Amino acid sequence: MILRISGLAKHYGTMPVFKNVHLDVKPGEFVAIVGESGVGKSTLLNCMAGLDNWDSGTVELAGQNLGTLSDDGRALLRRESVGFVFQAFHVLPHLDVAQNVALPLLLLGRHAPDRVSAMLQAVGLGDLGARLPQQLSGGQLQRVAIARALVHQPALILADEPTGNLDPGTAAKVMEALVHQSRKHGSALVLVTHSLAATEQANRVLHLRSEGMTDARG
Ligand SMILES: Nc1ncnc2c1ncn2[C@@H]1O[C@H](COP(=O)(O)OP(=O)(O)O)[C@@H](O)[C@H]1O
Ligand SMILES: [Mg+2]
Repeated sequence: MILRISGLAKHYGTMPVFKNVHLDVKPGEFVAIVGESGVGKSTLLNCMAGLDNWDSGTVELAGQNLGTLSDDGRALLRRESVGFVFQAFHVLPHLDVAQNVALPLLLLGRHAPDRVSAMLQAVGLGDLGARLPQQLSGGQLQRVAIARALVHQPALILADEPTGNLDPGTAAKVMEALVHQSRKHGSALVLVTHSLAATEQANRVLHLRSEGMTDARG
């Protein structure tokens, strides 16, 4: 398993967010997570990456128990094994498109300009490497984020409502790029989404509720 979550529970102060969350994700698998706003989907994704802490239960990422790792240990594992795509793109405004995509490689001490161009080509941005983010549309920015999430060939992609800020036509194209590229790289994909079209392509669709996570297809 690339990801194993067992009996996970989390609250903020006295307010419970979720409990009893179990999830195993196999290498290359595509799992979609749905659920009402505020139920804790983003919090759960952050726990998967060791960006947030939980109260009980375990998270194992790429065979390592995140609960036993220091912050630095978690950061190193995340750099190596995880790619993120957020709703709000999170591209760095002062770096050009190619530099944004190269960032995960830079953090790993790898220099692979060919890999950066290949990723830009793969998401349809082959000619835009020298542009600054402010010169791009929302759909193009999210494709930059997808290229950046995959450039270092992580075993796990975490995507949090990645098409939430896009119009339906653009959203469909961006989702296609995300799913296709994850498959091509053999990366597992955990996708939080409201899009029915996106869940149709998933191997499994899970529904997060305050009392736990269940199979949404019944
Ligand atoms: N840092 C925080 N401090 C306190 N409460 C938070 C914090 N982050 C999120 N919450 C609360 O936790 C719940 C789950 O939030 P979130 O994970 O963003 O839900 P979702 O992504 O499903 O909409 C919400 O009720 C939210 O208000
Ligand atoms: Mg959210």
